[in-house]
Amino acid sequence: MAILVTGGAGYIGSHTCIQLLKENYEVVVLDNLSNSSPKALQRIEEITGKTVMFYQADLLDRQAVERVFEENNITGVLHFAGLKAVGESVEKPLYYYHNNITGTLILCETMRSCGVKTLVFSSSATVYGTPERVPISEEAPTGAANPYGRTKLMIEEILRDLHQADSDWRIALLRYFNPIGADESGRIGEDPTGLPNNLMPFITQVAVGKRDKLMVFGDDYDTPDGTGIRDYIHVTDLAEGHLKALEKIAAETGVKTYNLGTGFGYSVLDIVHAFLEATGVQVPYEITDRRPGDIASCYADPSLAEKELGWRAKKTIRDMCCDAWRWQQHNPNGYQ
Ligand code: NAD
Ligand code: WQD
Repeated sequence: MAILVTGGAGYIGSHTCIQLLKENYEVVVLDNLSNSSPKALQRIEEITGKTVMFYQADLLDRQAVERVFEENNITGVLHFAGLKAVGESVEKPLYYYHNNITGTLILCETMRSCGVKTLVFSSSATVYGTPERVPISEEAPTGAANPYGRTKLMIEEILRDLHQADSDWRIALLRYFNPIGADESGRIGEDPTGLPNNLMPFITQVAVGKRDKLMVFGDDYDTPDGTGIRDYIHVTDLAEGHLKALEKIAAETGVKTYNLGTGFGYSVLDIVHAFLEATGVQVPYEITDRRPGDIASCYADPSLAEKELGWRAKKTIRDMCCDAWRWQQHNPNGYQ
């Protein structure tokens, strides 16, 4: 009995593999390595002392996906594989729709034909678009502002339709807020290619001397210090949320939607200060224009996940900064 982790070599998938192995699940990873390194998988094995069955394969390659199911006794799937860069999705919408949506269709069709109907999907807080109010509960209106976000919304709808047509499906849609940090070993972490899009990898790259300064995208938002507020969640807490979701859907059929966030909002400057306090490293910054498409404030109401999954984020912003820094310091060039 094994869990298939699509995108298991990636940032969140690799951390979730560690939690699965620690809980004695058998783990099979399918990843095309388009945005990840096989070294992540080696290190997962070093950290846990357990092995991972790895298929370097593309979800768009139906035969390869079928082979993974034929060769393993898969009982459930954690589906992380997807493209995630918002800006790139605006420039290459067809690439995003094809990879994320067609990939999910092929996965679900294969699952159905093999009688595997347990699926945890990586959705995103981006499905809430510009929220009317914060904290954001799962009932808040949805409406994504870019092709990447729309792939998440469309896949959510596809999975609801799938359950509507066949009530044997057991599906969890997990809407992540802003995952940061790294495994406390410092051996695996977030490894963006090129210029990081996201705040924490940018901060750690400035701290390690790879970049001169952080550009803070706007200080004129309607927030206490004028910079954008987000709900940063430690990737290990997020990974644990997946195991809880898997247990929940093992116990009951249906489609469940959960926010995975801490419920606390921190501004960009709060993070810069927290990073200094946690690591002793001052990150120089400059205020620049707002980034198009950014919103002022976004943080979760995570109470449903606490009530129904018995899960809540435990790690502090200090833990997130310390662990992100340990990973970056020990691996200044990521997995290279
Ligand atoms: P990531 O890029 O590190 O991991 C995704 C993995 O999927 C990569 O290893 C990539 O090689 C693989 N992949 C992509 N397309 C594939 C395909 N067609 N076939 C096989 N493998 C493929 O990203 P991540 O940060 O770990 O995100 C994981 C999931 O969580 C994604 O679906 C992402 O959209 C979602 N998510 C991420 C964030 C975030 O801020 N990191 C927030 C919300 C949701
Ligand atoms: C956080 C804050 C920026 C970089 C994105 C995606 C979203 C989700 C998570 C997948 C904002 C500010 C950032 C920098 C800055 N991904 N910032 N300088 O924008 O909340 O969400 O990643 O689903 O879909 O849109 O995260 O880390 O990019 O930004 O000032 O160099 O940091 O303006 O206020 P975001 P982020």
